[in-house]
Amino acid sequence: MTSPATPTTTAAPTANRRGLISALLLVAAVCVAVVALVVLLPAARSDPYTRSTLQLSGSGERGEQLFLINCAGCHGIAAQGLVGPNLHGVHNRKNNRQLIQQVVSGRTPPMPRFQPEPQAMADLLTYLNTLT
Ligand code: HEC
Repeated sequence: MTSPATPTTTAAPTANRRGLISALLLVAAVCVAVVALVVLLPAARSDPYTRSTLQLSGSGERGEQLFLINCAGCHGIAAQGLVGPNLHGVHNRKNNRQLIQQVVSGRTPPMPRFQPEPQAMADLLTYLNTLT
């Protein structure tokens, strides 16, 4: 009685292929989910203030003026550091969202919480990004 074995041998590759296709579909689904998390979540998470600030293009010159008035007392007139840290190269440590949070959140006393208009914040960001 060898006949019962015959269907198994022909069915096995089909089953394997189905398994492979499901596995590939699963991998594809996981990739889509990861991309969605990485790309969409940060955008969705940022608040309207951050979003409108990031849409504006800032002026480094106005940003420097704002910096001299509001920030230089602690960070130094050349942002070289005083009470607050040296800000040269800060954009390598913090991305634009984190820089905005740093300025508006007040989460790291003694640095106060600032509430600049989005345009002023965009100017400050541009200035901070010029500090190499
Ligand atoms: C009263 C003093 C003070 C003022 C005013 C101030 N800061 Fe700060 N700032 C600090 C201190 C202190 C820290 C360090 C906080 C910490 O991480 O513990 C800091 C941290 C920062 C950082 C993060 C630095 C890093 O290495 O990650 C940035 C960016 C920054 N300040 C920008 C600004 C800007 C822009 C302004 C003006 C709008 C400002 N600060 C005004 C005291 C000040």
